[in-house]
Amino acid sequence: MIRTAFFDTDEKEKLFFQKALPNKCELVLFDRPVSQVDITLVEKCEILSGFVYSKFSKEILEKLPKVKLIVTQSTGFDHIDIKYCKKKGITVCNVPEYGSNTVAEHTFALILTLMKRIIESTMRVKMGSFDPTGLTGFDLKGKTLGVIGTGKIGVNVIKIAKGFGMNAIAFDPFPKKDLEKYLGFAYKSLNEVLAESDIVTLHCPSCEETKHIINDKNINLMKDGTYLINTARGGLIETQALFNALKSGKIAGAGLDVLEEESFLAEERELLTKGTTERHNLLTLAQNHVLVNLPNVIVTPHNAFNSKEALQRILDTTVLNIESFIEGNPINTV
Ligand code: NAI
Repeated sequence: MIRTAFFDTDEKEKLFFQKALPNKCELVLFDRPVSQVDITLVEKCEILSGFVYSKFSKEILEKLPKVKLIVTQSTGFDHIDIKYCKKKGITVCNVPEYGSNTVAEHTFALILTLMKRIIESTMRVKMGSFDPTGLTGFDLKGKTLGVIGTGKIGVNVIKIAKGFGMNAIAFDPFPKKDLEKYLGFAYKSLNEVLAESDIVTLHCPSCEETKHIINDKNINLMKDGTYLINTARGGLIETQALFNALKSGKIAGAGLDVLEEESFLAEERELLTKGTTERHNLLTLAQNHVLVNLPNVIVTPHNAFNSKEALQRILDTTVLNIESFIEGNPINTV
């Protein structure tokens, strides 16, 4: 039995890990991050697992010389001293992928809600009227979807778009030429994608190069009445530019799961595990934001990743990472 410590773990997760690893590991479970745990309680542990709040620093790891494996229940691993782990031969594993289909599905939830005027329609019915006058929407079939970023999520979005009979075009500085042919879409320049799409959807990472990738200058390249969807990161869109384009009708509607001010967030699951203060802050930010109140804008609270199945995949991958390591074939190593 390998002594294994789990940090940042709630009651439901504790039960899951106890059930999933009964014969292989002797579990020590904490709801707190490693920094708030009496380190002598885990000094016999060979495996450590936690979320981004558990900073596995050199100072902590020096006190735990038996550790052979650290499994983070996140995609990011900058809370772990990788250099120290390499030096000491400690294997580090992460959860590289848990919700590509989940976010792609949410992208289409936003698109369909806008194009089929679902919110206005349900509001009307709730008000007691079954009159569809003025609620004409748009078909997706035959429309052109512009995908910015053809990574794990972008590719899933293209697959779904094809199911709706849409044309797909895409921009990515690192194009996947084999997929272009296989899935039947066309890579174009960013400006071409903006100019030719009926719906533009963002799926690239947030970094210096992508900050305000949709901005005051290039938003005007879009066709009048384009729809803009963002389930990636708020900082990709210059908010003022979007606001102006919505006002002028250049953009007919926007579906946003992320807003510019929430760029402090590193991991999706932080939204579920952080305390009430942060949740309240996010809500306040969203409420304060002028976009939220526009009738042709729908905003969801960074919820695209948040499906039962995606959260379960994080737990399943964590267990698989531990089992594979014990069997001598570590996977998802970073
Ligand atoms: P990925 O790393 O698989 O794909 C990102 C793609 O963007 C890559 O193909 C890359 O070449 C491309 N890219 C890089 N620079 C670019 C640029 N300047 N312009 C256009 N494309 C560029 O990432 P994945 O898993 O598809 O996720 C995409 C984004 O979605 C993430 O960066 C994350 O911010 C966001 N996300 C949002 C979630 C939510 O709940 N709303 C959940 C998970 C991810």
